[in-house]
Order: sequence, then structure tokens, then C-alpha cells
Amino acid sequence: MDISYILNELGEDRENYFNAVSPPIIQTSNFTFNSVAAFRDALTDEYEHTLYSRGDNPTLKILRQKLAALDGAEDALVFSSGVAATSIPVLALLKQGDHVVCVENPYSWTIRLFRDIMPKFGVTCTFVDGTEVKNFEEALQENTRMIYLESPNTFSYELQDIEAIAKLAKSRGIVTMIDNSYCGPLYQRPIELGIDLVMQTATKYIGGHSDVVAGVVTGKRDMLKKIFELEFMAIGAILSPHSAWLLIRGLRTLPLRQNKSFESTKVITAWLKNHSKIDKVIWPFDPGFKQSALAKKQMKGCGGLFSFTLKNSSAESIEAFCNKLQHILMAVSWGGHESLIIPSIAGIPVADYNAANPRHQLIRMYVGLEEPEYLIKDIERALG
Ligand SMILES: Cc1ncc(COP(=O)(O)O)c(C=O)c1O
Repeated sequence: MDISYILNELGEDRENYFNAVSPPIIQTSNFTFNSVAAFRDALTDEYEHTLYSRGDNPTLKILRQKLAALDGAEDALVFSSGVAATSIPVLALLKQGDHVVCVENPYSWTIRLFRDIMPKFGVTCTFVDGTEVKNFEEALQENTRMIYLESPNTFSYELQDIEAIAKLAKSRGIVTMIDNSYCGPLYQRPIELGIDLVMQTATKYIGGHSDVVAGVVTGKRDMLKKIFELEFMAIGAILSPHSAWLLIRGLRTLPLRQNKSFESTKVITAWLKNHSKIDKVIWPFDPGFKQSALAKKQMKGCGGLFSFTLKNSSAESIEAFCNKLQHILMAVSWGGHESLIIPSIAGIPVADYNAANPRHQLIRMYVGLEEPEYLIKDIERALG
């Protein structure tokens, strides 16, 4: 399906709402029925019918169709956060006694889910270095029911060979799920590589303006229906119609914004690599990136998140650099219009900083929509 069609037309039945270009926000909790038979049909199968906005809502339906088509998936479910888009499918698809193999160091709340929450329900997890397919194979147990990936990682950028891992999982009847937030559907299409469920935080590039928190999962209808019918409905982490509308609006400019972020990141990483005070730059599309071949094979483009380290890095020098930035904002998250910085040490008690730990030295930057020269000037001043 043509991407311009998906972003501008798909799901939008304009003749049903006065030929308005922008779809309405159907701000209702409830929908009425003209007959008991129609009411019964809706109550019997809420996945297929619009009954109550905890299940479905027409504004959300437009968004779901677009997100599914972008991923090349049969359907999409949308949630009130990215973490709900991970935890609800995981809770739905696993049961007591099951085992998960998860890539090491995924998003922090994904670690908490598999390490601290799922064991309460008798589900165990092994975290593996995801850069080698054999590490997944070696970690599989009789009771492994899910492999969870996040490629690239959004702090240190390790990739997993998505196609090879999906193939391994299929041969053992194991469900695969990936956090595809870094690339999104424009730059990486995991369903085409054999993955069952693709999760994204829509808070980032899809929303794109740092004003909405949301999540999405795409996949086959039967799997999504299973998730929808019990855990989705019972947990109720739903998106409001207004937030869905903001995401539809975000989608209109997704290619433009993501491309700008990608192009500016090329310029900034190249500049940083030549700076005398910079030690390392880590970005999957950097020619020197250690998994560069795999990045080029499975990603069509690259996100605007990268990390770097300072020469003679110390907690003081990292803090001094970040404190001196004037335009690049210090904050969590990414994917909006504004450029951001987060030093790894902001998440570590000062006394625990270990200069020998390469992860502690990382400074993550997200490149937003400002001109790269403007951002470079800010970095140059702060390095000075
Ligand atoms: C890679 C990744 N996955 C998942 C999430 C969770 O998304 P949300 O904040 O929308 O719940 C985040 C949030 O920063 C993230 O960076």
C-alpha cells in the first residue's frame, strides 16, 4: 500500500463527517443500538463491533487501520502508553510455568516487567546478549514461549538479526515480539522479517510533538483478538479519542520529520567524530558501527538517537558538558520536535559512577527538527 495513501486517506470516510479533511474526535464513552439483535452482536464480539470506548472508538479505528498498514500487519491495537503496549500482550500470551528469552538491556520498564512482575505470575525470563543468534538458541528451554527483542537498543544501539531469530522461533513454535520504536515502520518492517508482534511507543516519532503518551502493537488478527478479548479489556489501558486524533495528525508528517531527524543526525555524528574532545560516537548508520552490515541489511534508515562519550570522561566532565547546553534540552524521551540530551549518569547515584563502565560514560542525544548547525553550535560551546 502506498505510504501517502495510508497517511492521508486510509480509514478516513470523509463523506460520513461533512467531507471534513481532518477526522472528528468522537468524544463518547458509549454507542447505542436500534435493536436487541444488533446489541447482542456487539456484546458477543466487541473486537468486531463498536460498543463502548474501552474497547473501540471510531477515531481510534482510523488510527489503528493506518498503523496496521504502515507495519504491513493485519491489525493494530492502541494503548495509553508504550509500556502498556508491551505489558498487556505479554500478560495475555504467557501463563504460569512459561519462560521468555529477552534481549539484554531493553527499555528500563521492559526489564522491570520481565524481571520483577512476570515472576509473580510464575513466568521466568533469561536475558541474553542479542548480538549473536546462538545466544537465543542456547537460552531456549522446553517451556520457552516468547522471544522479546528490541533492535536497535535505544541507549547503546546493539542490534539483533531479526530475520534469523524469527526463523529460529518459528521452528520451535515460539511467539516473537519486538520493540521497534527506534526505527518505526518507515525504517524497519519486522513483520516482513517474520516477527509476530511489533510494539512501538507512539509517544515518540508518531506523536512527534511531545504532547501525547501512547503505544501500539501490530500483528495477526487472531493474536490481537486474543489479547483484546481478555487482558486489553480487563486492564483498560486505553487511548482517549483526543490522543488518537493527535497521533493521526502526527502521522501526516511522520516521513518528513523522521527524515529530517535522520539527515541531521548524519551531520552531527560526523562532526562529533572529528572533534578532539569526543572519544566515541555510537550510531547504527555510522560507517564504523560494529554491526553496520546488519544495520544496512534490516534497516532502511536510522533514528535520530545516538550516544557518545567524552575523552577523559569523568562524572564531573559529563555533568559540566550537559549543564552548559543552552538549546538542547535535558530530558527523558525522544521523537519530538526538540533535541534532547540524557547522560547515563543522571540515572545512577553519584557514588555508583564507575569510570571503567562504558555504559556509565554514555551521553545519549536525540536530534529533533532544529537545523543541525544550530545544534552543533550548542554542543561546541558546551564542549569548549
Ligand atoms: C524503546 C522504548 N520502548 C518503550 C518505551 C515506553 O514508551 P512509553 O513511554 O510511551 O510508555 C520507551 C519510552 O521511552 C522507549 O524508549
